[in-house]
Amino acid sequence: MNILAIESSCDDTGVAVVKDGREVLSSVIASQVPEHILYGGVVPEIASRRHCESIYGVTEKALEDAGLTLSEIDAIACTYAPGLIGALLVGVNFAKGLSYATGKPLIPVHHLRGHVASNYITHPELEPPFLALVVSGGHTHLIHVKDYTDYEVIGRTRDDAAGEAMDKAARAMGLPYPGGLNLDKAAQGGDEKAYPFPSPHVDNAEFDFSFSGMKTSVVNLIHNKEQKGEPIDVQNIGASYIHCVVRSLCNRTEKAIERFAPEKVVVAGGVSANSFLRRDMKKLCKKHRVKLYFPELKYCGDNAAMIGSQAYYEYQKGHIADLKLNAAAVLDIDK
Ligand code: KG4
Ligand code: ZN
Repeated sequence: MNILAIESSCDDTGVAVVKDGREVLSSVIASQVPEHILYGGVVPEIASRRHCESIYGVTEKALEDAGLTLSEIDAIACTYAPGLIGALLVGVNFAKGLSYATGKPLIPVHHLRGHVASNYITHPELEPPFLALVVSGGHTHLIHVKDYTDYEVIGRTRDDAAGEAMDKAARAMGLPYPGGLNLDKAAQGGDEKAYPFPSPHVDNAEFDFSFSGMKTSVVNLIHNKEQKGEPIDVQNIGASYIHCVVRSLCNRTEKAIERFAPEKVVVAGGVSANSFLRRDMKKLCKKHRVKLYFPELKYCGDNAAMIGSQAYYEYQKGHIADLKLNAAAVLDIDK
């Protein structure tokens, strides 16, 4: 089954063709980074407009790369939630138009389910159940993935997402957008113990996260240094800060491993590209003899291939939308 999938939840316009949930025939992304870099972050209004301008061309290229015509596509999928509402609406409405014109089924996909599915592409043998750590710009979740469309969230952030915490720290350090990636690069080889940032504790919720305290702490540290005219030691501050975020992610994951004894742990979302997280999760899973899965780097960030992968499993469960489908800025993964 060939699914043409559309992803437009943030600042990447992605279209992909995926066969039977696992084989990527094409994956095209029009990045808006050069424009948002001017503002230090994503400007929602600009993102929506750029999606409008590029979605047709990206779709044409995805079909061309796959060597298929629209008539050889079996279903149309799109990310419908969560994300920037104006950005999502462009993808949803384009997908509805394609579905209406071709008569092919329309499959709505939750963005975070897509991130989890990016691992099905990289690891064709991977099947649920597993424990998933989903770490993106807007979400930080520990999830029991019981089946392809059956999820139970066991922990989540009480405030900022891990990616947002990385982005804000990077911005305070004067690093350009996209912050998380540039912070990771700048911190390579830095001393992770140079600056002790606070470890968050969330009362009565051992699998929940909190990143706002450490974010405020790094921002204050940088402002103090700036006021005193001291240089900002980006490499060591960055390494210590990432260490602190990653320690929190690994610590909650370890508690969940000890409690639920999963055979497999899957990490997904933009922050799964982080080199410190990859290193420490490997150590953790080795210690507990648990199999660990990360997506290939190119599928860590937003892309439409992961949406096409998840759409295959949604379709098998009969999760088809009609043309009244709307987008939603907020939606739990288990809804
Ligand atoms: O999943 P994603 O591409 O978009 C959302 O669904 O939010 O995640 C984007 C987030 C951003 O906060 C970005 O800074 C972060 O992932 N990110 C990273 C790295 N690459 C991307 N954070 C830390 N280290 C990285 N290498
Ligand atoms: Zn994402």
